[in-house]
Amino acid sequence: MSKKLLTIKEVKLLPVDAEFYVKGVASRLTRRVDRNNNPFWEMALSDQTGDIEGKIWGTSSWINRQGGDSFPVDPDNCGLRFEGSSIGISGKVGQFRDLLQYNFNEVYYLDQEQNPPSGFVKKSPVDSAYLEDSFRDLIAEVSHKAIHDFLLSVFFTKYNLWEKFKIWPAATLLHHAYVGGLLEHSVSVAIGARDIARHYESFKVPVNMNIVLAGALLHDIGKLESYTVNTTPKNTVKGNTLDHIILGSHMFMKFAEAEDLNEDISHALAHIIVSHHGLREFGSPVLPQTPEAMIVSAADDLDFKLNYWKTQIEALSPQSEFTDFLSFIDRRLWRGVEIK
Ligand SMILES: [Fe+2]
Ligand SMILES: [Fe+2]
Repeated sequence: MSKKLLTIKEVKLLPVDAEFYVKGVASRLTRRVDRNNNPFWEMALSDQTGDIEGKIWGTSSWINRQGGDSFPVDPDNCGLRFEGSSIGISGKVGQFRDLLQYNFNEVYYLDQEQNPPSGFVKKSPVDSAYLEDSFRDLIAEVSHKAIHDFLLSVFFTKYNLWEKFKIWPAATLLHHAYVGGLLEHSVSVAIGARDIARHYESFKVPVNMNIVLAGALLHDIGKLESYTVNTTPKNTVKGNTLDHIILGSHMFMKFAEAEDLNEDISHALAHIIVSHHGLREFGSPVLPQTPEAMIVSAADDLDFKLNYWKTQIEALSPQSEFTDFLSFIDRRLWRGVEIK
């Protein structure tokens, strides 16, 4: 195995027939059978630079490289759990119906101590100390004592959501799907919402800044129950069956009742949590009906779209101007022109 070790981002720039060696975490592994009943596998491999999907055909070799040894294994009967583990792949770029296809010809189960899966996990690109300080500053900006104390008690002193909140992803795919993504997204939404609210205050729209800030910081707390973090974010059973909007409003109402939060405040904040996706087809049973809810929902939508644009454009080959059509946001995305 003398091939140069590449990152996933580098592999994705290779032409047809190029060979590669790459390491990462197997974020998904699915066993399938072809029409002759021969097994093949589809593996998604992730490192800090991106994700790649590859085919592992029946002719590929599976090799255990733990503890300095190297011997072939049968993936169905070796007792090794490839999914969620650190894997090395020796492969070749192929082509299928005009699209590049990555053939994973040798699959190495790496020594997990020398190559810990945590080393391949994607993290928020924004400095974590900056995000943590910003989060605390945003709570400090809440001047209404009961709301301020409620936020402190939920995130820190009493219920301590913070321990999970600071590392949690904001999604499993699409946007902020990495360690620290929920904190990055929540801080960004809260700062964006605050600045929009300031603007409309000066344009004489009555906006309650305390509700905007608290609503923005709380809007996605349901994600603490809808995802798990192992090496890559995954949906929980509750996440699949109830979703973060229902889970978040339920969590919030429990905290609000236990803390005896004033009924009107609790109603205004619950409305933000429930309506923040802005459209029924995006999972909100009601649409934003107050200035505070409209502002948080708009800031949330923009933050999602900009993060999605960034992720998609970073993964685009340098020759391409546009992404493929992205059904989730019903458009292709454009790199834009560089204005000098
Ligand atoms: Fe959300
Ligand atoms: Fe959100």
